[in-house]
Amino acid sequence: MKIAVAGTGYVGLVTGACLAYKGHKVVCLDVDTNKIERLRSGDPVIYEAGLEEILHKCIADKTISFTTDYKEAYKDADAIFVGVGTPDKKDGSVNLSYINSVADQIAESLEKDALVIIKSTVPLGTSDRIESRINSNTKNGVKVELASNPEFLAQGTAVQNTLHPNRIIIGVKSAKSEKILQEIYKDFDAPKLVVKRHSAEMIKYASNDFLALKISYVNEIANLCELTGADIDEVTKGMGYDPRIGSSFLKAGTGYGGSCFPKDTKALHWMSNIRGHELKTVRAAIDVNEGQKLVLIKKAHHYFDNFKDVNIAVLGLTFKPGTDDLREAPSLSCIPYLLDDGAKIKAWDPVGEANFRKFYPNELTYCKTIEETLEEADICFIFTEWPEICNMDVKEFARRMKKPLVLDGRNCFKLKDIKDKGVLYLSIGRAPIKG
Ligand code: UGA
Repeated sequence: MKIAVAGTGYVGLVTGACLAYKGHKVVCLDVDTNKIERLRSGDPVIYEAGLEEILHKCIADKTISFTTDYKEAYKDADAIFVGVGTPDKKDGSVNLSYINSVADQIAESLEKDALVIIKSTVPLGTSDRIESRINSNTKNGVKVELASNPEFLAQGTAVQNTLHPNRIIIGVKSAKSEKILQEIYKDFDAPKLVVKRHSAEMIKYASNDFLALKISYVNEIANLCELTGADIDEVTKGMGYDPRIGSSFLKAGTGYGGSCFPKDTKALHWMSNIRGHELKTVRAAIDVNEGQKLVLIKKAHHYFDNFKDVNIAVLGLTFKPGTDDLREAPSLSCIPYLLDDGAKIKAWDPVGEANFRKFYPNELTYCKTIEETLEEADICFIFTEWPEICNMDVKEFARRMKKPLVLDGRNCFKLKDIKDKGVLYLSIGRAPIKG
C-alpha cells in the first residue's frame, strides 16, 4: 500500500515516520523546501524523543521519502493522511485554509481512487465537507472517501504515543474504508474503535477538552488550598486513588499551554456557540486557565509593586518539558509583562532558547546553566518542570540569588526538600516555605 502524508509538523511527521517504521512505504509532503531538504538528510527539524533514530532507520530502509512535489506524492497513493495545521482564528474558530489547499491538490493530482484520512484536529463535519470538495474537483471519475482518524499524541512522547497508542479511532462511512485503515494499523497493538466520522471528530475534541477541564479544575482547587491550608499534592493523591477520577492530569501548575488544549477548548466552545448551545464547563476551563497563567506574577506582586530593575531568573520557557515548543506557554504570557515593567531577565531552557530568541532576540540574557541564571537574582520564576530543574541542588538558590524568592509554577520540589534552605518558596496549592 502506498501511503502519502500531507504536512511534516508534529502530527504529520511523527505519523509518517511511525507508519514507515512499521514497514509501510510512506512519502511525506510539505511545501517548505528547506524543511524537506533537512528531513531527507535525517534531521527531524523538531525536537521529539526517539524521532531522529526512527527517521534514520526508515531512510536507510527506504521506507520513507520526502518531497515538495504534491502531484508525485498523491497521484497513485492508496491512502493519504492529512496532518497539516489547523490553527485558531481570533474568534476561536478554526482556520481550515491548509486543509482546504491540501484537498485541492489531492483533487488535482489523483489518478486513481484513494482513501483520505484526516489526522489533524478539525471541526465537526469537516470530513463530509472535504470529501465533497475533493470529489467535485477530481478528473476522470476518480473518487475519494474520507476517514477521520484523530491523533492522540502528546508532544515530548509523540513517538511512543504513536507506536503504542491507547486507542485507535477509525471514523469511516463504509466497510471498504474500514478495511484499509485496519490494514494500515494491523501491527499496532491497541483497541480499535470503529465509529461514525462525526463521532471520531468529536472524540478528539471531547477528549482534549476534558483533560483541559481536569487541569483547570485542579488549578482552582489548588488556589483554594492556598487559602484554606490544604496541600494540593496530598489532595490530588487522595483523589487519584479513585479509579473513576484517575490520577493523571491532576497536576496543578501555572496553566496548560501548547498547540492543542488552548486551541481545542476555544474551538469546541465556538462550534457549540454557533449552534446556540453554550458549553459552560469548557468556557470555565478557558477562563480559569487564562488567570492561572499569570498566577506567579500575582504572587510576585505581594513582594514587588513593580519590576523595574528587578533581577529575574527564569527557569524553563517551553509549555512543557520534552519539547522546544513555546505555543501558549505561560512564559510567553509572563515575560512580556515583566519586560514592559522594566525587569532585567536571565533565562535558561535546555531546548527552548532558539525558539524564544525568535520573539526576544536581545531583550533578555540567555544562560547556558541554571547556576548562571540564578546569579544575583531577586526572584526566580519556574515555568517548566524540566528534569534538570527538578533534580537540581536546591541550595543553589540561596547560594547564588541576591534575595532568594522562588516562585515555582510547576511544583518541582517536595516541600520537605526546600525547607530550611534559606529560600522563600511559593508554589501552587501548597503552603509557602519561609527560610
Ligand atoms: C495534548 C493531549 O495530551 C494529546 O492526547 C493530544 O493528542 C494533543 O494534545 C493534541 O491534540 O495534539 P500536548 O498538548 O502535547 O498533548 O501536551 P500535554 O501533555 O497534554 O500537556 C498540555 C498542557 O497541560 C501542558 O502545558 C502541561 O503542562 C499541562 N498539564 C498537563 C498540566 O498543567 N497538568 C497536568 O496534570 C497535565
